[in-house]
Amino acid sequence: MSRQPSTAIRSSAEQAPPSERTVSARQLPEDAPVERSLRPRRLAEYIGQERVKETLQVFIDAAKKRGESLDHVLLYGPPGLGKTTLASIIAAEMGVSLRVTSGPAIERQGDLVSILTNLKPGDVLFIDEIHRLNRVVEEVLYSAMEDYAVDIVLGKGPAARTMRINLPRFTLVGATTRLALLTGPLRDRFGSVLRLDFYSEEAMEEIVVRSASVLDVPISPEGARALAGRARGTPRVANRLLKRARDYAEVRGEGAITDQLAAEALRMLDIDRLGLDDIDRRILRAIVEKFGGGPVGIDTLAAAISEETDTVMDVYEPYLIQLGFLQRTPRGRVATGGAYAHLGLEPPALPSQQTLLFGGAKR
Ligand code: ADE
Repeated sequence: MSRQPSTAIRSSAEQAPPSERTVSARQLPEDAPVERSLRPRRLAEYIGQERVKETLQVFIDAAKKRGESLDHVLLYGPPGLGKTTLASIIAAEMGVSLRVTSGPAIERQGDLVSILTNLKPGDVLFIDEIHRLNRVVEEVLYSAMEDYAVDIVLGKGPAARTMRINLPRFTLVGATTRLALLTGPLRDRFGSVLRLDFYSEEAMEEIVVRSASVLDVPISPEGARALAGRARGTPRVANRLLKRARDYAEVRGEGAITDQLAAEALRMLDIDRLGLDDIDRRILRAIVEKFGGGPVGIDTLAAAISEETDTVMDVYEPYLIQLGFLQRTPRGRVATGGAYAHLGLEPPALPSQQTLLFGGAKR
């Protein structure tokens, strides 16, 4: 209880560790100011994720009609798809304040109690990476979510007493890239659990055009299509590509992102026609060249390309799986025929063990 709530509340500018990768879905420090300016503020401005939008709209309208706070919402899916944006939209639509924190930032029960007791009625508390909350902190959250109260222990030994602190009604918006790592009791306390998917190409194009207009950068329809097509169905990546293309167009052209300048900028960034970069190709090539096409365990694969297992699982794999280039099988990762074709390689002549191994994910 000795720590101030501010230690666990941080701005989005301080999120993920830096990476050099242009197509990383993870937030880089350079993204924060642009993301803030491009972020849609209301549900009506939010492009794509139609099912999620519709569900939220109904719950928000119902809560407002009853004059109640919104039920707790859990958002899950790959990084960069707009979980933080949706949390801020929920707060704006409900006309309340937003508090942002993350699982790893809340180290002790006292950190969470300080945050909770500083909320005003109806406020939205956004906890990113909620699967990384430690168990002791998570237990405080159970009663907070269910009973809007927390029990704190005062004193030690035989003299210890429990005191119940009532909290204002608040809405917890949790976000995770790994639904499977959430404990049952925590998951069960959310009124709605909503999955964000990679965006369609049309939605990505609309987002690029909207972002270019907010940034006041002229862009041709073909230029917008080229950037959208390489953004891995991820708005964060699209907005980063747009910034890079804007720089390129300012230096090599007149400032407008023409078809040609967009294509040249993408070539310079070494992003291929599907949005894969060097690390994606290294993952696929490692499976093919070092492990005979797989199956290979995720830890071995991550070590082979000198990346962390969690990063490979959360950041790189989802898009490779979505493209149908990689499969998770009970015995490990397998490169598909599509991956071989994309790398310009011949798939193995004999059907490998892979074909016998399809089934549930290993992790
Ligand atoms: N910028 C980033 N994500 C967006 C979205 N889903 N809609 C509109 N603009 C965005």
